[in-house]
Amino acid sequence: MERIELSDEMISSLRERVREYLTPQRYVHTLAVEEEAARLGGMYLPDRINALRAAALLHDITKRDDLEKQLQYCREFGIIYDVSDKSAPKLFHAKTAAALARRDFPEFTDDEIVSGIRWHTTGRAEMTTFESIVYLADYIEETREFPDCVKLRRFFYDGIESGKEPTAHFKKTMVKSFDMTILDLVKDGRPIDRDTIAARNRFLLETKETD
Ligand SMILES: [Fe+2]
Repeated sequence: MERIELSDEMISSLRERVREYLTPQRYVHTLAVEEEAARLGGMYLPDRINALRAAALLHDITKRDDLEKQLQYCREFGIIYDVSDKSAPKLFHAKTAAALARRDFPEFTDDEIVSGIRWHTTGRAEMTTFESIVYLADYIEETREFPDCVKLRRFFYDGIESGKEPTAHFKKTMVKSFDMTILDLVKDGRPIDRDTIAARNRFLLETKETD
């Protein structure tokens, strides 16, 4: 897989360029995801920290767009979607942001960065460490105040600080995140994406194997 190298200067310029794609509030969130992804990258993927920063900066670039615009992107980029996706329009943004990032930011994206964006909302069974970091950073970044986010952030960092084995603890944290997401969707009567279930099962299985 071809990987691009991103200098700190490039990350700084990307940080400015994405601003126009985001609401002010989402820009603050995006910068916090960038920091969190870099922190997690330092622990789990030290040679891809700037790539993780780029994925984080680009992960929500279509989130403010409405359903009509999302469907327009789908036609434009040949994104295949399920009719049931329309009942969960939030899920579009990961697919459309991945495609838009590749088109509008070619000098800042490679396959790994694009797939980090693509899978940041639902996860997927075979998700890589890179994808998992973007996903988790989005969940636990420090400006998030939603109780589940606070709980998961504490769970993760408390475990790390108390000396838990980092890889096993990361997997446990992933299981917990999917459990909370799924419970929340059930509580709200919303559909659960099959990739989310598959991701949860995969990490659960791996957690059991190392217990
Ligand atoms: Fe996000």
